[in-house]
Amino acid sequence: MQRHYQFAGFMGKRVHLGVTGSIAAYKALDLLRALIRADLQVSATLTPGAEEFVRGLAFEALGASPVYGPMFDARAESPFGHLEPGQLADAMVIAPASATTMARLAFGLGDDMLACQALAFPGPKIIAPAMNPKMWEAPATRRNWEMLGEMGYTRVGPDSGHVACGDTGSGRFAQVDEILLAVLKAISPQDMAGRKVVVTLGPTRESWDAVRFWSNPSSGTMGACLAVAAYLRGADVHAVAGPCGLTFPAGIRVTNVNSAREMYEAASEAWPDADIGCCSAAVADYRPVPFGDQKFKKTGTDGLTVQFETNPDILKSLGKVKKAGQMLLGFAAETANVEAEAARKLEAKNLDMIAANDVSSDGSGFGTATNRMLVLHRSGRKEHWPLLSKTEVAWRLWDHLLLD
Ligand code: C5P
Repeated sequence: MQRHYQFAGFMGKRVHLGVTGSIAAYKALDLLRALIRADLQVSATLTPGAEEFVRGLAFEALGASPVYGPMFDARAESPFGHLEPGQLADAMVIAPASATTMARLAFGLGDDMLACQALAFPGPKIIAPAMNPKMWEAPATRRNWEMLGEMGYTRVGPDSGHVACGDTGSGRFAQVDEILLAVLKAISPQDMAGRKVVVTLGPTRESWDAVRFWSNPSSGTMGACLAVAAYLRGADVHAVAGPCGLTFPAGIRVTNVNSAREMYEAASEAWPDADIGCCSAAVADYRPVPFGDQKFKKTGTDGLTVQFETNPDILKSLGKVKKAGQMLLGFAAETANVEAEAARKLEAKNLDMIAANDVSSDGSGFGTATNRMLVLHRSGRKEHWPLLSKTEVAWRLWDHLLLD
């Protein structure tokens, strides 16, 4: 799983996982592990069909508790297992969902434990189908899928491609990451709903000749964590991403760019319409004056002198045209005088908040999964945070900015 999808901190929340009879049932174990990694408590129900592919014991062993047995089970701890998820869980996810279970849910049948639990579940429900493409395209399945959408289910997938039986088409189980994010979104506060957020992230690449460029080792993780956190909290997110190879949830608009000037163009175009701007990209301050379209050939041993010209400061230019009501968050990666430099940039770039870190300290900065931040707000608020995962830093930065 990609780092910017590894959100923790959902402590105290509970999710009920329903698994049905599909060859993809084993992938529900990955989903379970991802949910548990997010600090969630997870209970599970396997239909009899699911039990043909993977046993409830495996879910128990990986931390699901309880794993419900069938209806009318004399050994069950409570006669009300069919009602418990509705009383206890914050969201229910049925993954993978077979055509039969989709039909049960669409028509409100209560003829197995999972179907009864879904009927008695008042909270958000997420469904991710998996089946053969012909079964997926069958008119009955299409109708049931539409009905589930109308009933308020969040529908994830299915993907297209090769399926287990050798056919190709639509019906593949969605990526576990996509399903996880749909669950996390369903249980996240929607306190950024209605806000448009632009995030720059990753490095830039400044071409010099046909094969060489000037860049830096930014992984884009911090910005991606901010983009995904805002998305989970309901914001309309536009990520302007330098070349970092990250993928984003389908609900995030992504503009891929290479150079600082391309990033500047994309960010400047998006900014007038945005409520919040966040520049976390590691933009190259200078670009080499291009050698040309050809590959540079070695010419002796006297070294090489390359001229550089100045790139636009994207954040500063957004700050210059910031309107009342817009908020701008910047970053400062420093190796000395962290606080003084952060305070200077807060002012010079007309920011509302700046998150600074000492990139020479252990565990903080480029390519790490963690950051130790000093956060300055234009109101004078100042916070020192301990070493935290970037996903947690992202969540806290939005909290802090929204306090305003
Ligand atoms: O001045 P400095 O480069 O340290 O400022 C860092 C902040 O400015 C970061 O938020 C970075 O994304 C942004 N920046 C930018 N365009 C540049 C240089 C930095 O948006 N050319």
